[in-house]
Amino acid sequence: MLTLYSLLLLEANTLDENGITSLPVLTEHALSNNQQMASNNRYTLTIFMLLILFLLSILLISKRSLEPSLSLYRSFFSQAHVALNSPADSAETPTESRQSNISVSEVFVEEDKETPVAQNESFVDNNNNNNGDVSFERVNGACDLYMGIWVKDEGYPVYRPGSCPYVDEPFDCQMNGRRDSSYLRWRWKPDGCDLPRSVVCYFLQLPFIGRFNATDFLERLRGKRLMLVGDSMNRNQFESLLCLLREGLTNKSRMYEIYGHKITKGRGYYVFTFLDYNCTVEFVRSHFLVKEGVRINGQGDSNPTLSVDQIDKTANKWKRADILVFNTGHWWVHGKTARGKNYFKEGDYLYPKFDAVEAYRRALKTWGKWIDDNIKPSKQLVFYRGYSSAHFRGGDWDSGGSCNGETEPIFSGPFLDSYPLKMKIVEEVIQEMRNPVILLNVTRLTNYRKDGHPSIYGQNVTDGKKISRRRQDCSHWCLPGVPDAWNELIYATLVFKQTVSIQR
Ligand SMILES: *[C@@H]1O[C@H](CO)[C@@H](O)[C@H](O)[C@H]1NC(C)=O
Ligand SMILES: *[C@@H]1O[C@H](CO)[C@@H](O)[C@H](O)[C@H]1NC(C)=O
Ligand SMILES: *[C@@H]1O[C@H](CO)[C@@H](O)[C@H](O)[C@H]1NC(C)=O
Ligand SMILES: *[C@@H]1O[C@H](CO)[C@@H](O)[C@H](O)[C@H]1NC(C)=O
Ligand SMILES: *[C@@H]1O[C@H](CO)[C@@H](O)[C@H](O)[C@H]1NC(C)=O
Ligand SMILES: *[C@@H]1O[C@H](CO)[C@@H](O)[C@H](O)[C@H]1NC(C)=O
Ligand SMILES: *[C@@H]1O[C@H](CO)[C@@H](O)[C@H](O)[C@H]1NC(C)=O
Repeated sequence: MLTLYSLLLLEANTLDENGITSLPVLTEHALSNNQQMASNNRYTLTIFMLLILFLLSILLISKRSLEPSLSLYRSFFSQAHVALNSPADSAETPTESRQSNISVSEVFVEEDKETPVAQNESFVDNNNNNNGDVSFERVNGACDLYMGIWVKDEGYPVYRPGSCPYVDEPFDCQMNGRRDSSYLRWRWKPDGCDLPRSVVCYFLQLPFIGRFNATDFLERLRGKRLMLVGDSMNRNQFESLLCLLREGLTNKSRMYEIYGHKITKGRGYYVFTFLDYNCTVEFVRSHFLVKEGVRINGQGDSNPTLSVDQIDKTANKWKRADILVFNTGHWWVHGKTARGKNYFKEGDYLYPKFDAVEAYRRALKTWGKWIDDNIKPSKQLVFYRGYSSAHFRGGDWDSGGSCNGETEPIFSGPFLDSYPLKMKIVEEVIQEMRNPVILLNVTRLTNYRKDGHPSIYGQNVTDGKKISRRRQDCSHWCLPGVPDAWNELIYATLVFKQTVSIQR
């Protein structure tokens, strides 16, 4: 079937720079150009709109005859259901009473065994950016992608649980025995617009017809290197992205890890290539984005240190990417930073005691300076993914906190609006930078999703082995799950950006 969306883009392409405006995100520039739109353009547009209406009516009719009319009703109902659950109506908030116990916890479980990345694992740098003319500009669009609601959508998840070989055991909840599945069926819906999916539902906002278009995402990555850099939350997102893109391949063997590595938390570097799209999706582990080191103390023991004024040693890899997605945050806590004692370094000076949040601020500035000095904004695109909240009840990750048995998102309450100090710092640092950085501002939308964590299903409990209830994972996310939405937001950003730059 002809997709209207590509038609739209085609149309945008053929118009001159005063182009069309019916796209969701417009720069002010494009808006003012719009006023001078020539009458022949208006003519084209009218024809075009009629064509759209015509195609849509055909589609609707065929859709209705194909599916029992009930489905139409059901889909509207499920939207209505969420409307009921929205903060405005407290009658339908069954989970509210439990929310008070959920703490905004900034700690999480991960005891990474460091497996040093072999320095010889270099990837031939063949990046001359054949799409270099697609300029990556800041989108000062009208629609805030990050304010919205989760709506029930039977078209989700994009990939079946257990079907994607790149989901690491800790995130493979259904295979690990999780029985409830309604957490898989939520789609993020921004208030001001819809995320781009197959075009029909894009216009009609009918959730059941189409969904996220992985092939189109791959098309937009053609010839590019996308790299996620950060901690295990970014590995979580990395696996999600691989699984989403895999859905766009007819022959699933046409993607693979170039060193043949299987994804585990023990390794810090992966490169997946997509043969038919000449693109790679990579993960580089860097917990802090700045340089980790060791020092030998008086007793001859080696202790870890962190140089907040030096960029992480993996940064030489970052330079090669066309699209970068950073995160850090979950490791900037007392427990992971030696309680700030003899840990943070600046120059040669080792602070006997230093505050982790202030260290975070300085480290992010170091990162920002590195981006400004090493990244070409005309060719490379930088995202920073915001902090994703954990949802521990009745304790922390190491003191019996839990999130098992959560089957519904949070729909209201103060927890939704908690915005961590670390995020305010991120925003400050980004504002002071020369280069644009797109904040993937997912903090709030993940705050809703207390139902999405692995909890006790972070490991495959087979053969009557006892489930470990000692520590629950209420920080990472089941896959399929919440990180799929983060990646759809990256996709949406690419679509809107490319649309805007075509218009210019
Ligand atoms: C919430 O906390 C209260 C005490 O603060 C406790 O009695 C209750 O069991 C907790 N509920 C849950 C679901 O953890
Ligand atoms: C990397 O170097 C090690 C030895 O230093 C060697 O054993 C290994 O095969 C090399 N790997 C690659 C991919 O070249
Ligand atoms: C998905 O995108 C591809 C490439 O842009 C396009 O050919 C295809 O028709 C799209 N599919 C749907 C269902 O929109
Ligand atoms: C693959 O992409 C690279 C840029 O990343 C480009 O130099 C190369 O020519 C492309 N190869 C093919 C076969 O398109
Ligand atoms: C799928 O791709 C693999 C690797 O390129 C190839 O060996 C195989 O023949 C392909 N299968 C089909 C059905 O095209
Ligand atoms: C990110 O989202 C929060 C709400 O969670 C909001 O307060 C903040 O202003 C947003 N930041 C940006 C840069 O849009
Ligand atoms: C987990 O265990 C189930 C059996 O309970 C098995 O079918 C599944 O393949 C296992 N998954 C993994 C990732 O090992």
